[in-house]
Amino acid sequence: FLLGGAAAGTLALSPSAAGPLPPAVDTLPADAPVRRLTLSAAEMEVPLLGPGRPATRRFCAYNGTPLMRLRAPRGTRLKVDFTNRLPSATTVHWHGIRVPYLSDGVAPITQEPIPPGAAFAYDVPLPDPGFYFFHPHCDETGQVGRGLVALLMVDDPAEAKVPFDLEHVIVVKDWRLGADGQFLEMFTDEGASTAGTFGTVRATNGAVVPPRIEAPAFGDVRVRAIVADATRVIDFGCDTEDAAILACDGQAIPPILLDTVPDGVWRMGPAQRLDVHVRMPGPGGEVKIYDYRTAEPYLLTTLVAVERGKKKRPFRPLALPVAKEVPMPDLKRATRLEFLVQTAAGAIAVAPSLPPDDPLAKALIDSVCVGDKTFWAISRNSWGAGADLRLPPPLETLKDGQSYILSISNVTKHPHPMHLHGHIFRVLSSSRKKMPQYLADTVLVEPNESVEIAFKATSGNWVFHCHILEHMDSGLMGWFRVA
Ligand code: C2O
Ligand code: CU
Repeated sequence: FLLGGAAAGTLALSPSAAGPLPPAVDTLPADAPVRRLTLSAAEMEVPLLGPGRPATRRFCAYNGTPLMRLRAPRGTRLKVDFTNRLPSATTVHWHGIRVPYLSDGVAPITQEPIPPGAAFAYDVPLPDPGFYFFHPHCDETGQVGRGLVALLMVDDPAEAKVPFDLEHVIVVKDWRLGADGQFLEMFTDEGASTAGTFGTVRATNGAVVPPRIEAPAFGDVRVRAIVADATRVIDFGCDTEDAAILACDGQAIPPILLDTVPDGVWRMGPAQRLDVHVRMPGPGGEVKIYDYRTAEPYLLTTLVAVERGKKKRPFRPLALPVAKEVPMPDLKRATRLEFLVQTAAGAIAVAPSLPPDDPLAKALIDSVCVGDKTFWAISRNSWGAGADLRLPPPLETLKDGQSYILSISNVTKHPHPMHLHGHIFRVLSSSRKKMPQYLADTVLVEPNESVEIAFKATSGNWVFHCHILEHMDSGLMGWFRVA
């Protein structure tokens, strides 16, 4: 079983099977300040259901901290020494961050799965401010389902001038627990082939009781929400008119009053993030933040206004500085590509399967780095599953530095949050709704909707997949080779 070296091995599912390796692009200067991060993933016991209830075993966390949060200034480089202390293989994927692709953490096209006890070094430059997270890209449904997610805020020094009184983070993530408080199977055929398998208990920031947070009366709160759930799509909204969207997936936009978007809610699928400015009411007042998608709105957080000597004044959204580092596509010269998100019927097998006794094939199956069912496809290509461990050919081979417009059409009955690795793209348009253009790394595509995104391609092997984790584990993933 081969480890580490990306060029090692010639097996059909090793990174080298993806063809000659494209050059990896560093997104920061070589002399950028370095921070070392010692990271490990391990199981632990956590009282997810609260005091007096049985604690949940086999919870997965980084550095022993459930839903750990890190911050770093833009322009730093994280040198990550990662050790896998889980009983199964894993990798670390830096969601939304423009890393050199050999640090992108995708088994098997950028690295081999990291077996229990083994280590891997990730080089994680942070060129763009934003709200990111990291999670495994190997048995994601199981490991993320059991909690293995961490947040990474990359701060722009220019943001320090924006006078927020408070920052409040909301992690939307359900737990899938039996009555005994222990994790249930995360993948079900019924869920994977439809909208996904939902948790049995809703939670905010890990806890089943939504947070109540004190904030200065008439103060300005920066609410930063992420859907870290494997399945759930939410309609983010709140019960005040004094609220404005400031950023999508951590990328600043000219503020949009939440009140002016349809139904006053912003729909967010798994992996999507949202920054919202909320103005607090007078002393004793409250702002309630909800997921309005469920029949009964689900309370995510209550902000409670306490007297701190601030004066009432008209609401004006506090715009965030717009970062200029993200490479912008040249729309006039862009090549247009069309993709269908569809069910797997009709997916075509193209590359040869690995011989079943192949050691890497065995390792991948044992490590559950690949799923074992196929329900979905992108333009008739499904990611390999089960014993049919073929690496599909790239959806397309792209040219480094060239601009592309992807048209993504969802011809299924369920929404799919589509995520492209290694790039921050511009969301151009939707066939179903009018919307402002914004930057993002994940875009929700509703049934019968076509969405257009544009980006300038960066050299590497990059996956493109649905972030409903059971969907990606059952075929809804493809890759681009950019060279
Ligand atoms: Cu958040 Cu491919 O991942
Ligand atoms: Cu999906």
